[in-house]
Amino acid sequence: CGIVGYLGPREAYPIIIEGLRRLEYRGYDSAGIALFDGENLKISKTKGKVADLEALADKEITKNGNVGIGHTRWATHGVPNDVNSHPHLSNSGELVMIHNGIIENYETLKQELISKGYVFHSDTDTEVLVNLIEYVKKQENIKLGKAVQIALNQVIGAYAIAVFDKTKPEEIVIARLGSPLAVGIGEDEFFIASDASPFLEYTKNAIYLEDEEMAIIRFHKGIKIRKIKDDSLVAPYIQELQMNLEQIEKGGFDHFMLKEIYEQPKAITDTYRGRLLRNEAIIKMAGVEDNMKKFLNANRIIIVACGTSWHAGLVAEYIFEDLARIPVEVEYASEFRYRNPVITENDVIIAISQSGETADTLAAIKLAKSKGAFVFGVCNVVGSSISRETHAGAYTHAGPEIGVASTKAFTTQITVLTLIALRLARAKGSISSSDFRKHLLELELIPKKVEKALESNDHIKKIAEIYKDSRNCLYLGRGYNFPVALEGALKLKEISYIHAEGYPAAEMKHGPIALIDENMPVIVIATKKGHYEKVVSNIQEIKSRKGKIIGIVTEGDTQVRALADHVIEVPETEESLSPLLTTIPLQLLSYHIAVLLDKNVDQPRNLAKSVTVE
Ligand code: G6P
Repeated sequence: CGIVGYLGPREAYPIIIEGLRRLEYRGYDSAGIALFDGENLKISKTKGKVADLEALADKEITKNGNVGIGHTRWATHGVPNDVNSHPHLSNSGELVMIHNGIIENYETLKQELISKGYVFHSDTDTEVLVNLIEYVKKQENIKLGKAVQIALNQVIGAYAIAVFDKTKPEEIVIARLGSPLAVGIGEDEFFIASDASPFLEYTKNAIYLEDEEMAIIRFHKGIKIRKIKDDSLVAPYIQELQMNLEQIEKGGFDHFMLKEIYEQPKAITDTYRGRLLRNEAIIKMAGVEDNMKKFLNANRIIIVACGTSWHAGLVAEYIFEDLARIPVEVEYASEFRYRNPVITENDVIIAISQSGETADTLAAIKLAKSKGAFVFGVCNVVGSSISRETHAGAYTHAGPEIGVASTKAFTTQITVLTLIALRLARAKGSISSSDFRKHLLELELIPKKVEKALESNDHIKKIAEIYKDSRNCLYLGRGYNFPVALEGALKLKEISYIHAEGYPAAEMKHGPIALIDENMPVIVIATKKGHYEKVVSNIQEIKSRKGKIIGIVTEGDTQVRALADHVIEVPETEESLSPLLTTIPLQLLSYHIAVLLDKNVDQPRNLAKSVTVE
């Protein structure tokens, strides 16, 4: 879900619509806009996509106006429909607001407002908040900014909001707790957005609001930031943005996902560049170096993450334990945060997040910090909430990832985690210097090998054609490639809506084997290093039950080729680095199946890129 706003001399409509389109990657199910043209407040909103909103706005409203807010909604409270879409109006029709996040105590607040005579048209928590602001404003006869502040202090939950008053349209008030919000500062104009992409073409100067901060933005008068809790003024910190527009456009590919799959050789190189110094046989990472004692004295490392990032964490478990001999636990952030986990000052937490905004991961970090643990972040988005909340960290440098299904974020996360594990292994002496050098050399060869793996694209497309109508799919792997099987299944589910399951190959016989028949495609990762013979036996078990076998194998493999219906080759590498290669064909397979099924690859239904609600 996303927020866009504009206040300045230009026409707001095109800026907001284009901005919403840039935020489409975050995932949403409805969209809306409110514009003020000096006399009238005009609102258009609908279930569906930004294109549907445009079509509706064409019929419903005139599009002039220099003040406006727009929104894409990912339903939490209330089904996705026109009424529940944002913006929402207050009862007097004066205040108009958009909101990301969840107001947890909305029901209590709603009942109070109903008892004061307020009526509600939607099922949303947002409509409750905008009316609470109005109630406070009228009751106390105060300015909008003050009313927002008082209202937010009664709210439990998470939010990013933008609200304005049509009777005082030269001012927009915004606030954040838990959901990101950035302000682009132009020449006497302001852009508001969930991230910088909607305003990059207008300005490179941005302010990121921190949690519990609000800003009052006034035309000709500038921006004032205050703490919501105690009203204290905060000096605005204006950052210069480094991204450019090309980085967030498709660059000739049909989909962002495919572009991002193909970007992996470069993304992985960017991730280890300047960190892996092979000639000197060292790994240099400031965040690790500065906190070496914490890592070396750690009783254990706990990795917290969600989704694909959690799968990267599982791969890291194998790498850390294998190379650095440090015990690792990998936890879903959403489970970890609610089960009263045992954490001590000697635990090191590694939080992995592409967006750096995932609400559950952020909450897990805060919990771990409150227990005195050292928290290290592995994020892709520079300046994101998680990167700021953690004690130290390492960025993945994958560049913006727009496709909802994560691809290059995953492989670059594994790259960073491998670098950390190798650095710690060296410091601990748990790896020999020759093994260490061998790993550095192999890691440096990975981008070229990913390129090689990408050459199977056409072959994979043909396999996709054969299996696109399958109703189920099983993904199997062992050791380092067990998490890759999970990730392969997740990719297929996410974008093609085919049910898929990832399993440790040997566990198959304890359940999933019951599903195998001649209609069941089974994708087995069977690369040469890593329990190869055992996996071959598992393949035999599938074959004797007539399952269709797609083997992901090492170049030149003959044994699996003789058994499988199809094989897809990847170059040979160290076992610990093999996930960086075996993942590639699985990404391509799910991509092609989804395209063949005519699914919305970059914005799969019901999913969001950045999940800022718990
Ligand atoms: C969402 C995305 C996934 C992602 C997960 C965690 O579910 O659709 O692709 O893996 O969130 O996101 P993060 O930004 O924390 O890595």
